Amino acid sequence: PLYSVIAIVLGYLAGSLSFAVIVSRLMGLQDPRTFGSRNPGATNVLRSGSKAAAAVTLLLDGVKGWLPVLLVRLLGKPYGLEEGTMALVGLAAFLGHLYPVFFRFKGGKGVATFIGVVFGIDAVLGLATALTWLIIAFFFRYSSLASLVSAVFAPVYYLLGNRIAWYVDATVAIVLAAMAGLLLYRHRENITRLLKGTESRIGAKKAPEP
Ligand code: G3P
Repeated sequence: PLYSVIAIVLGYLAGSLSFAVIVSRLMGLQDPRTFGSRNPGATNVLRSGSKAAAAVTLLLDGVKGWLPVLLVRLLGKPYGLEEGTMALVGLAAFLGHLYPVFFRFKGGKGVATFIGVVFGIDAVLGLATALTWLIIAFFFRYSSLASLVSAVFAPVYYLLGNRIAWYVDATVAIVLAAMAGLLLYRHRENITRLLKGTESRIGAKKAPEP
């Protein structure tokens, strides 16, 4: 359990790196917490007008979820770290993104990190989740809607896919569902805007209304 605790703490610290803020600062852009949705995430960085900064933010926020999970998978066995710990390390990175210790616990909504963690848990599952995001984003042009739909579907895909293989790890299933629940909770303002029809579309620089 000591190694599990160390891995989980390291996962949380990695997740706490709020790359929307870090990348914007390094690239001399406005702090994403001061405009648009005020969310430190790739979608809001895109509203600064810099596609490059948004892409780098998306990538790094994803990698900080993916890499800790992958490291546990690759290096964990000799330390007794199993599938359950792997999922918990992913959850810790996700929680770090939402409640970052380095940024007064005010983080983002978790979409990129969630997809990164899912990729780490299972590459096919990650691909299915990312494709779901892309398809909804392509047809509806709402980043938040794409995020909500893919978050709900990830645990469903896991259960369906692994039922066929007759193997479901309870911790993985619970962690996926917990992340999806938290992601929905963090999008409550987006959900209100979507229902009111005031959510901003991808590519629109205009700030979403409160
Ligand atoms: O990934 C966050 C996205 O789902 C919504 O972001 O900035 O439109 O609230 P934002």
